[in-house]
Amino acid sequence: MKLPWNDPCSNKFATTIGLITSNGRYGNDIMACEWTHHISYDPGLIAISLGPTKATVKNIKISKEFGVNLCALDQSVIASVAGGYSGINYNKIEALKELGFEFYQAKKIKSLMLDRASLNVECKLIREIKFGDHIMFIGEVVYAVQNPEKKSLIYHDRKYWSLQSLVKPSQQERERIRKIVEKHRR
Ligand SMILES: Cc1cc2nc3c(=O)[nH]c(=O)nc-3n(C[C@H](O)[C@H](O)[C@H](O)COP(=O)(O)O)c2cc1C
Repeated sequence: MKLPWNDPCSNKFATTIGLITSNGRYGNDIMACEWTHHISYDPGLIAISLGPTKATVKNIKISKEFGVNLCALDQSVIASVAGGYSGINYNKIEALKELGFEFYQAKKIKSLMLDRASLNVECKLIREIKFGDHIMFIGEVVYAVQNPEKKSLIYHDRKYWSLQSLVKPSQQERERIRKIVEKHRR
């Protein structure tokens, strides 16, 4: 069966937003990608799933590399611009610069990276796999830096959110849970 965009079931997922930077056929570009996932520690691998018509896809197919900039809480405007316009018709990087956001040259790849993101990761493409109606690009991490002052913005139910940690159960309650689980050890 299908699980389409904007279906109430699809909207139950909560993700961070990868702002994917690339440099290729369409020059420097940035797109919003909720399907951005850390999938291996050693080596560090990141998977991004992109619709085949995106300018970013054409860029990555040529350059074989991409930047992952995790959107910070105060950068929702970037997610909306990067996710609402295509690099085929718009120079989003210049528009975002005019809106006051800054970019810097990546260290190990040719893309620009977003300043003041919660995480900046430079990736070299190692695999490209078509899954259903999207293409998954898997990148090996060649450089990563995080910003300790920034929290990642969350995307859920087509809205932007901030994370709030839950209060842990009391020590007594955790002890009760531990005893019950221990009773069921195989
Ligand atoms: C919050 C948000 C999340 C998005 N996530 C994805 C995604 O995971 N995969 C995808 O292909 N498009 C996603 N999009 C849509 C693309 O960002 C959009 O089509 C963009 O215009 C593509 O830019 P490009 O053509 O310059 O590459 C998302 C859009 C928004 C607003």
